[in-house]
Amino acid sequence: METLAERHSTREFKPRELSDSTLANLLWAANGINRPDGHRTAPSALNRQEIDIYVFTESGVWLYEPISNTLLPRAEGDHRSILCGGQDFVTQAPVTLLLVANGDRFQMSGERATLMMAADAGIVCENINLFCSSAGLSTVPRASMDTEAIKKLLSLPDSQIPMLNNPIGY
Ligand SMILES: Cc1cc2nc3c(=O)[nH]c(=O)nc-3n(C[C@H](O)[C@H](O)[C@H](O)COP(=O)(O)O)c2cc1C
Repeated sequence: METLAERHSTREFKPRELSDSTLANLLWAANGINRPDGHRTAPSALNRQEIDIYVFTESGVWLYEPISNTLLPRAEGDHRSILCGGQDFVTQAPVTLLLVANGDRFQMSGERATLMMAADAGIVCENINLFCSSAGLSTVPRASMDTEAIKKLLSLPDSQIPMLNNPIGY
């Protein structure tokens, strides 16, 4: 009840970084593996587990790999500006999590598939919102971003859709 009561969007961030353990807990809460059979903290349509999480910081971009609970490097340097979509506060957040729906893993296409992938992304996003609320972190769910620049940076094919992002900090 307390976590839900505290959940709200924040668009101002202090420079304070997240510790590695806080980031690890955040990613696990967002969409980590919570059962021996590989199921995740976030449900997904048909259990396709198609939502990937990219971590943007001042020093680079990584892909969260839930099986080993590790981060796979995807780009060096500060690319947070392509997530702004006209909202400069995003570059003040030490971490932004980008949720990408992997349509190839979803194995279905068309409007209904896109709707289900959007729902799946929304659930991961709410896991992030609620973890932040419970851990004293600030965040805001966002759809604004430069999707073409993101696809180029991360070499995403058209089947992978940037859905939402969450800037996170204190
Ligand atoms: C799907 C979705 C997209 C959103 N996109 C943005 C956005 O691009 N920029 C932004 O500042 N807030 C965005 N928001 C946050 C909403 O504006 C915010 O949740 C709403 O005003 C309610 O405020 P609350 O989250 O504090 O309850 C988005 C929220 C959702 C659910």
